[in-house]
Amino acid sequence: MQFTGSHIISIGQFERADIERIFEVADQMVPYAHRRRVTKVLDGAILGSMFFEPSTRTRVSFGSAFNLLGGEVRETIGFESSAIAKGESLYDTARVLSGYSDVISMRHPQEGSVAEFAAASRVPVINGGDGSNEHPSQALLDLYTIKKELQHHGRDDVDGLRIALIGDLKYGRTVHSLCKLLTLFKDVTIWLISPKELRMPGDIVEQMRTAGLTVNESDSMEDSIAHVDIAYSTRIQEERFASQEEANLYRGRYRLNQAIYTRFCEPNTVIMHPLPRDSRAGANELDNDLNDNPNLAIFRQTDNGVLVRMALFALVLDVVDLVDKYSSDVHWYTGSRF
Ligand code: CP
Repeated sequence: MQFTGSHIISIGQFERADIERIFEVADQMVPYAHRRRVTKVLDGAILGSMFFEPSTRTRVSFGSAFNLLGGEVRETIGFESSAIAKGESLYDTARVLSGYSDVISMRHPQEGSVAEFAAASRVPVINGGDGSNEHPSQALLDLYTIKKELQHHGRDDVDGLRIALIGDLKYGRTVHSLCKLLTLFKDVTIWLISPKELRMPGDIVEQMRTAGLTVNESDSMEDSIAHVDIAYSTRIQEERFASQEEANLYRGRYRLNQAIYTRFCEPNTVIMHPLPRDSRAGANELDNDLNDNPNLAIFRQTDNGVLVRMALFALVLDVVDLVDKYSSDVHWYTGSRF
């Protein structure tokens, strides 16, 4: 695809070569994300960050990624701090804010809303999650992490991947985008583990089967995680249910903890989760007792999110080849985080 000036709305717009290009640029961003170098390549550029649903990782890592490239961030958080609360349309909001920004990252509770906004925007828009539809940058950082974790275990390719997705597959936008992304790879076997009522939407299952993936659906976690490279847990998306009572029917249904991992998983199975994990007693789908498990990759995922989002900005704003030219040394204590 032509990255320069493009909106990033759906995983469906990428081909495999595009994914490889994004990951190549993400690798190039490591010295900057890890505070070994600074770059001012986006000095003067403005990111409009518009998040109309709660977010910690996506909102802050998009902002950090833009700052790390030398740009500035202007934030709108929640409908109550936007004129949308006074009845302004997405069209008008897009026309206005695209005059104030060079690129926009956006999250909104309605499926299709970010695409509608992008159609009216005069600058590129990156989807940070539209309802239960898609979360493309999360899928990209998930796949980037999968690739790195497999490499750590001596495998050089995502082809042949065996992965289990566990939890709320009906409303989880991260797993919708990840499933679509996996259709670009060969010999992938996927276990979809959920209560019957929260199954992966049929059109996405069909898309995977048509692309040649082996898809197994089950409501039993223990048997399904026995032979996988990746066990990817998800939260019950309570905000998408009609009531808390309905969400409570499913919360805590699947709990991956160290005892279950030791008993059922292969020794190198990597544990992933898009986060936030629901650490309340009634949920706890990914137990804190896994925190010291070296195969728990959840915080490597969050770190990788910065690299992938830097790559998206650099590609969309066409500065990949200039990042190093506008770089300099770091002068402050950077610690040993990475
Ligand atoms: N993974 C993810 O989308 O997290 P946030 O809701 O915190 O952005």
